[in-house]
Amino acid sequence: MAKILVAKSAGFCFGVRRAINIAEKAVKSSQVVYSLGPIIHNPQEVKRLESAGLKPIENEFEINPSKIVIRSHGISPQREAYLKNQGFEIVDATCPYVKAVHDAVQELCEDGYFIVLIGEKNHPEVLGTLGYLELSDCKGVVVESKEDLKQVLGKEKVGIVSQTTQSEQFFKEIVGEIALWTREVKVINTICNATSERQEGVIELAPKVDVMVIIGGKNSGNTRRLFEISKSLNPNSFHIETEEELKKEWFENISSIGITAGASTPDWLIERVIARLREL
Ligand code: F3S
Repeated sequence: MAKILVAKSAGFCFGVRRAINIAEKAVKSSQVVYSLGPIIHNPQEVKRLESAGLKPIENEFEINPSKIVIRSHGISPQREAYLKNQGFEIVDATCPYVKAVHDAVQELCEDGYFIVLIGEKNHPEVLGTLGYLELSDCKGVVVESKEDLKQVLGKEKVGIVSQTTQSEQFFKEIVGEIALWTREVKVINTICNATSERQEGVIELAPKVDVMVIIGGKNSGNTRRLFEISKSLNPNSFHIETEEELKKEWFENISSIGITAGASTPDWLIERVIARLREL
């Protein structure tokens, strides 16, 4: 039987595990609980939580005021205030590392910096963070590509923060460019290392095994990225959501299998995949 090796830091990150625990507690103490957007990017875990009583909704207009869970990405302070005003009971599962980005933005705003938020323009975390700029009545821009740097030209004092899941490489490039032509730059590094730890785990394991199996939602950006990295180092890499997708022929005449999983993949799914691999 092939040896099964699990990559360093595979599966749930601290913030997702915490959010799920908070949501589970909320459903235990209430009949109906909603989550603003799916609580994580993993269809199987969302389904499991739904059967426990957590219903994902796209926006608050769909329901009457009730208990509502804010997922780990967080929301803007304006939306939070609106929800409270409408009578919603907020269960805040915002990741503390995302809250640290909100605090960093407010600190830089108070000190008069023009804000550069390195991140994806439509990502829920970024949209929530932008609300803190508005709250502090300060100016800034989201930098998703080098093209966006045009809007930073000529600014004298620039404060830089980042979306928590940003790539370190891109962060380094943008900070380096701005520092070249800006008089004063203050950088608060708000990247969470959960993403890079999982990527390092794949980089370490993928070249050493015959086959790599990457477990996680097809809608999970960080899982897809783990798969891309793995595939570039080991062509026998497969991205699956559940054990049912495993194919016997992937594992013929091999001696080792590497396993990793995205930050939104629950332990029970990883365990099921390992159990199925042992049967093959
Ligand atoms: Fe939080 Fe980092 Fe996870 S920001 S939600 S611990 S990826």
